[in-house]
Amino acid sequence: MRVLVTGGAGYIGSHTLLQILQERHEALVFDNFSNSSPEALRRVRRLTNVDFQVTNGDVRDEDALLRAMRSFRPEAIVHFAGLKSVGESNSQPLEYYSQNVVGTIKLLRAMEQTGCGTIVFSSSATVYGEARYLPYDESHPSQPTNPYGRTKHFIEKVISDWVASRPEFTAVVLRYFNPVGAHPSGLIGEHPSGTPNNLVPYITQVAAGRLARLRIYGNDYPTRDGTGERDYIHVEDLARAHVAALDYASRFSGCEAINVGTGRGATVLEMIREIEAASGRKVPYEIVARREGDIATSIADVRKAERLLGWKAQYGIAEMCRSAWHWQSRNPNGYDSSHGPENHGALLEEVS
Ligand code: NAD
Ligand code: UFG
Repeated sequence: MRVLVTGGAGYIGSHTLLQILQERHEALVFDNFSNSSPEALRRVRRLTNVDFQVTNGDVRDEDALLRAMRSFRPEAIVHFAGLKSVGESNSQPLEYYSQNVVGTIKLLRAMEQTGCGTIVFSSSATVYGEARYLPYDESHPSQPTNPYGRTKHFIEKVISDWVASRPEFTAVVLRYFNPVGAHPSGLIGEHPSGTPNNLVPYITQVAAGRLARLRIYGNDYPTRDGTGERDYIHVEDLARAHVAALDYASRFSGCEAINVGTGRGATVLEMIREIEAASGRKVPYEIVARREGDIATSIADVRKAERLLGWKAQYGIAEMCRSAWHWQSRNPNGYDSSHGPENHGALLEEVS
């Protein structure tokens, strides 16, 4: 199958691209590198020894999308491109609506014009908001509590209306829980710009001595040890869910939203202990006030993924933390260890 991967140079995109290529699909990456490095693509090429195309473009640039799609003629799109920081979405809501919602509408329009009717979309557990019951199943009410989550909620609605407009359109909306970890090679992984907001990259940077201590946002939640509990999912398992979704979409028509998690939760203290075990280092921490907008527990009901996609997570938190540490220790500055942002232009020429 020919698959266009928007945002394919990013954290989840690069891991998924690798598996798409390993499944012998052809791929075109469409990315503006606003939050990624072409070095990730060079490493995917090194790991797979398979060639793929790369277009440097913004999904809101309909002409660029049309040009790429007319020449590549994708049979399916995996759509990762977009902004993903909850905090930033509170201060820059219009940028989030533009990149995420407008970007997706432009993509769907280009798909209509070029006869591509299949999309796998990156949504998030954040669409659910405060839990009315746990685990979250896909019918749980959607009441996101921040602009980022609302962009995902609105995109889901746009995609579902789009699919309903023509029998040949198909969408699989994957609602990721908390993606962590890295490829076992330690060659590709998460490259957060600046100080990480998310727990695991923060803890690995503390273990590496780059940050002094973790601040735990509250230990008075109704969980096993009082700290927040999340359903962490290994990025390798998540990538495999996309391959399964592409396969499913080739056999089905309609629109389905599917949770991607493990169905099990881990608390902040449990994650600290796993990174300490993986790294052999102590992770100093202090307890501070709850972070605004955080919830106590988020855990996926994963039965639908198993039923429809025949997919189930294989890795537990020990493996997630081991691979996260392996990536961090091999690449202390992420992709900038070998090539700073000033070299993006030359690297881009090399991978394009
Ligand atoms: P990422 O920032 O690493 O990857 C996003 C990629 O899209 C980057 O390569 C970036 O350069 C590119 N991009 C951004 N805006 C673009 C635009 N307008 N045009 C073209 N390319 C653009 O993020 P990620 O963690 O890999 O997340 C991928 C997707 O999964 C996002 O849509 C995100 O909202 C969603 N998601 C992520 C998480 C998570 O915790 N990482 C959780 C749930 C959902
Ligand atoms: N936490 C800390 N200290 C930190 C960072 C996080 O104690 O420095 C705690 C949080 O309070 C929470 C847990 O660690 O209890 C996980 O926090 P993350 O920021 O890693 O993840 P969230 O569950 O808050 O959100 C993430 C993404 C969202 C996405 C959501 C569901 O940031 O974009 O998972 O997929 F929508």
